Amino acid sequence: MTWLITGGAGYIGAHVVRAMTRAGERAVVYDDLSTGDAARVPDGIPLVVGSTLDGDRLARVLAEHEVTGVVHLAAKKQVGESVDQPLRYYRENVEGLRVLLEAVTAADVSAFVFSSSAAVYGMPDVDLVTEETPCMPMSPYGETKLVGEWLVRATGRATGLSTASLRYFNVAGAASPELADTGVFNLVPMVFEKLTENAAPRIFGDDYPTPDGTCIRDYIHVVDLAEAHVATARALQSSPGLDLTLNIGRGEGVSVREMIDTIAAVTGHHHVPTVTPRRPGDPARVVASADRIATELGWKARHDVHDMIASAWQGWLRHHPQAARD
Ligand SMILES: NC(=O)c1ccc[n+]([C@@H]2O[C@H](COP(=O)([O-])OP(=O)(O)OC[C@H]3O[C@@H](n4cnc5c(N)ncnc54)[C@H](O)[C@@H]3O)[C@@H](O)[C@H]2O)c1
Repeated sequence: MTWLITGGAGYIGAHVVRAMTRAGERAVVYDDLSTGDAARVPDGIPLVVGSTLDGDRLARVLAEHEVTGVVHLAAKKQVGESVDQPLRYYRENVEGLRVLLEAVTAADVSAFVFSSSAAVYGMPDVDLVTEETPCMPMSPYGETKLVGEWLVRATGRATGLSTASLRYFNVAGAASPELADTGVFNLVPMVFEKLTENAAPRIFGDDYPTPDGTCIRDYIHVVDLAEAHVATARALQSSPGLDLTLNIGRGEGVSVREMIDTIAAVTGHHHVPTVTPRRPGDPARVVASADRIATELGWKARHDVHDMIASAWQGWLRHHPQAARD
């Protein structure tokens, strides 16, 4: 099949492109380069620079490249920014998806994979979040992902398009240093940033009802996440009319304090963390049940938190060589 990978010049998209092509699929990247980087697109893979809001351009690209499947990663992803700019987030993430689906259903596309997020769950009050846990997003970003899932599912039901919404948990790591995430929006790069300034990392709240008092999350290596896309693509290809909603996590919780300890062990930067008050809206614990994807697709994560941090640190050092410990 030929897959259009929207957002393929982004952090996760670049890994998905590599995993899909390694698995023998053809890929075309469609990206407006708003946060992506053309250098992340491998040689020999066509890159079309365009927005998902541009339906005419999408229609042309789908026809020209005889696209039969779409992996839709293109979106804005910062929770805080979405609170300040909800209209922009709804335009890019919801309207961009609607326009894309219109082009897709008018073309010869049979499979559609949508990048959703654990943000759809909001503040789940359960040990392990299953796909049946009620979705109560806490931010416009999370809302756009939930609405996106509805749009994708409704379109699949109405047209026969095979669809999957993949709810990513906390993504970290890189396949190689040049593919690392360059944004500083998540715990790992935020801690790296402090260590680079020779300052103590910050913990937002250590009075949560968790064993060490800090928040617990489920971290997933981007290489494993990319492989989950290959498994999903294969399933959609072989079973027309499929409608999947799947968590993508490891099913293992790691606390902020444990992450900071592992980061210290990997980087050689040892600081006693500074504890500051909780951030509003941070749930105590969000950990996936990864059972459904294991049962349905036979996929399971292979990399642990140490692998994620070590590979992310190599990427960080590319841009911040002064952070290296002698
Ligand atoms: N990184 C995470 O931890 C995480 C977690 C859950 C879900 N996600 C989702 O995964 C997807 C990819 O995230 P990422 O971390 O790689 O982010 P990213 O910002 O690195 O990648 C997004 C890509 O989409 C492109 N893009 C954005 N808006 C576009 C538009 N309207 N038209 C065309 N291209 C557009 C950007 O240029 C960029 O290359 C997003 O949908 C995000 O919401 C990410």
